[in-house]
Amino acid sequence: MAIKLVTTAAELRAEGARLLKEEGGSSLGFVPTMGALHSGHATLARTAVAANDVTAVSIFVNPIQFGDAVDLDRYPRTLEADMALLDAEGVDLVFAPSVEEVYPDGQPLVRVTSGPLGEKWEGASRPGHFDGALTVVAKLLHYGLPAGPAADGGAAAYRAYFGQKDAQQLALVRRMVADLNFPVEIVAVPTVRADDGLALSSRNRFLSAEEREAALVLSRALRLLEQRANAHEPLDLPSAVGLVRSQPLVELDYFDVVDPRTLDPLAENCQDTPFRGEGLAIIAAKVGPVRLIDNIPLDS
Ligand code: PAF
Repeated sequence: MAIKLVTTAAELRAEGARLLKEEGGSSLGFVPTMGALHSGHATLARTAVAANDVTAVSIFVNPIQFGDAVDLDRYPRTLEADMALLDAEGVDLVFAPSVEEVYPDGQPLVRVTSGPLGEKWEGASRPGHFDGALTVVAKLLHYGLPAGPAADGGAAAYRAYFGQKDAQQLALVRRMVADLNFPVEIVAVPTVRADDGLALSSRNRFLSAEEREAALVLSRALRLLEQRANAHEPLDLPSAVGLVRSQPLVELDYFDVVDPRTLDPLAENCQDTPFRGEGLAIIAAKVGPVRLIDNIPLDS
């Protein structure tokens, strides 16, 4: 079936319900994105399509999660190419609303507050970012909620897909859904990497060839920690930090090992005693003009 583009919440609801009925379906997968899609998004879409009867993807560049108007303006808008990519993955519906559709009264007065979890790491260098992101995710999850009963008369299963690459966003979305009782299952999809290890990101297109080469130190440093964790060795985080700092084109912001749910540092667990348990190594750095983030789950 050909992919369909809708631009209003009412159309999304009606089309979602129609498709579920037509397919005799009982599950709807929803993938929120800001477009400029790459193979990482293709993996999100493919995962959703494989697990659900109907899959909808939203494409919306959310103004209230950008601190900087220049960043918002230069965010790539590539709807035609995005539609082709999603069509190839078997997505049924694309929801690409206007800013007026999502924020009919202008800036929302009431927003989701991300709290202390949203103020650390990425939140520290992008104040207000996670409040804006969670607010739009809340709205998008409501728009996507399947209307009416599934084909078998029960409630349709509703699943939303987020990339592990944005680990802090994922942790916050999980908390929002749990704390505010959203009727949706959140599914995390592992980070997709280029062959050389660089985590895929819409921002990679702004890296020069030299900067891209330099950026590989991020994933190398994360892999080093992963290897040490798997070998039950001490993580020796300072030596991995030293590796990143030795790359002159990379300006390190943070590099730490944290609890995957609270994002609090696991300081005593990552120096000179063998690593045990579960952790998440997170890193952020500026490479030339581009801020990059990456992470790797550690399980020992
Ligand atoms: O991760 C993103 O692309 C965005 O933050 C999201 C979840 C689509 C909200 O605008």
